[in-house]
Amino acid sequence: MASTRTRLRGTRGRAPLRAPHRRPAGRRPHDRSWWQDGILYQVYPRSFADADGDGHGDLRGLRARLGHLARLGVSGLWLNPTCPSADADWGYDVTGYCDVHPDFGTLEDMDALLADAHAAGIRVLLDLVPNHTSDRHPWFQESRASRDNPKADWYVWADPRPDGAPPNNWVSMFGGPAWEFEPRRGQYYLRNFTRNQPDLNWWCEDVRDEFDRILRFWLDRGVDGFRIDVCQAIVKDRGLRDNPPATPEDRANVRLRGQRPAYSMNRPEVHDVLRRWRAICDGYAHRPILLGETNTHDLAGLARYYGAGDELHMAFNFPFMGTPFEAGALREIVERTEAGLPADAQPVWTMSNHDAPRFVSRWCDDDPRKVRVALMLLMALRGTPLLYYGDELGLPDVAVPAAAARDPLAAGTLPGKDGRDPCRTPMPWDASAHYGFGPAGGGAAPWLPTGPRAGRTVADQEADPDSTLQLTRRLIALRAAEPDLRRAPLRFAGAPPGVLVIERGALRVTLNLTDRAQPRGAGKLVLATAPVIGGAIPAWSGAITRRSGA
Ligand code: GLC
Repeated sequence: MASTRTRLRGTRGRAPLRAPHRRPAGRRPHDRSWWQDGILYQVYPRSFADADGDGHGDLRGLRARLGHLARLGVSGLWLNPTCPSADADWGYDVTGYCDVHPDFGTLEDMDALLADAHAAGIRVLLDLVPNHTSDRHPWFQESRASRDNPKADWYVWADPRPDGAPPNNWVSMFGGPAWEFEPRRGQYYLRNFTRNQPDLNWWCEDVRDEFDRILRFWLDRGVDGFRIDVCQAIVKDRGLRDNPPATPEDRANVRLRGQRPAYSMNRPEVHDVLRRWRAICDGYAHRPILLGETNTHDLAGLARYYGAGDELHMAFNFPFMGTPFEAGALREIVERTEAGLPADAQPVWTMSNHDAPRFVSRWCDDDPRKVRVALMLLMALRGTPLLYYGDELGLPDVAVPAAAARDPLAAGTLPGKDGRDPCRTPMPWDASAHYGFGPAGGGAAPWLPTGPRAGRTVADQEADPDSTLQLTRRLIALRAAEPDLRRAPLRFAGAPPGVLVIERGALRVTLNLTDRAQPRGAGKLVLATAPVIGGAIPAWSGAITRRSGA
């Protein structure tokens, strides 16, 4: 462990974190410093760094690369699922909740990662998957065997309709009916994703109690909180009512599935579970947090996930990720978010994740000028910015040929939805074999193709003072140094079409999303994504200025 610590450069001045302990009931104000004032970073562990050379990233690999994250200036990590899994959906089909996937290491490796991350001043959130398990999880094996075993009620089971058809019209998020027949019970089980991911029954008290224990298992080990998978859908309508059909006014993702998930998602009872988990978190002195995958496109609905400050600490804002990279549309989402969330609710902003094309491809056509403007936008918003691994390098997606595909969605189960492999490819560290993803000497071929990354690796960008990596670091450092960028209210000032002018206290952020030069605005130049000549900023560039006298 000591040898890894010595590799952590750039952590000077960051106070190591103390070991956690539970504290007596009663609320205390939350520590603002890391999740409200800092930057979060999502690591897809299978693709970050492979220490043992088996072609799959692991926790030891991540530990050895913590120095990169400390130098970037991030204050917290979210790790995609690290529990044992049958990998029908790469970690999102859990076979054991209180352990580490053998591809990633052991519980001791997790403890060592937590210790090293904390020593570097970085918190760690794990991915909690409460909506469903693997069909190979021992709970499901037991549950499916009969109608009267001790786990009979742990999953969502329902009788067929009189003609033998599934109990209702719900469709899977991954396409096709959401129900699978189990002859041993003569019943259907619900599966909102692949058939290997049976949905747990959150009306069952034993399931609730079991998850309380799972949360405590990890929090006792020092984990700093959880990203909650499919947060909005864990509790289903008790009567399993049919969903209403989609209408032409619905957004594309709803039309694609042909129905509105009115009874299968966003049910009011989910909030009882979130309050219960929040109370557990609030019982720990290290103040762990809950970050929810709240896949709702209604921003008023999003506000409900914050409760009265007694549910999620932060709820993902999918409308922002789904918006076009266009000044008017971006402004509208940001203003609606600001108006929709209660004043004390912390927004979280992310441009890429493991389920969608990277922003560099989706928003920016891999144009480095646009990438730099997008990064400046992310750091100019009020709330917590969250980077997906490789965002800081401006990485685009990698084309993954069908023969190399790994994602279940790549099989075309949901026509109109592509596989998610292109955004999950290995992190490029340097010019060595597999771009440094494996141990020295290369190791086995990575589980997904690396794609062409020459000139875009961490090492390349370390060496170039004008690289996207260096810009990202400067933006993060500026946010750390300027309280206004973190806490001042956000306001849009008037601007020409295609330009965003964001005011944050004494700072003004001008983002030119057009093909022409635009006025940069008065004030002293603080940071720009491209050279500013005179009073103008070039096409597709951004500048931060300080109001004169401020
Ligand atoms: C979430 C995850 C996604 C996964 C799904 C099922 O949406 O982000 O990757 O496939 O849940 O667990």
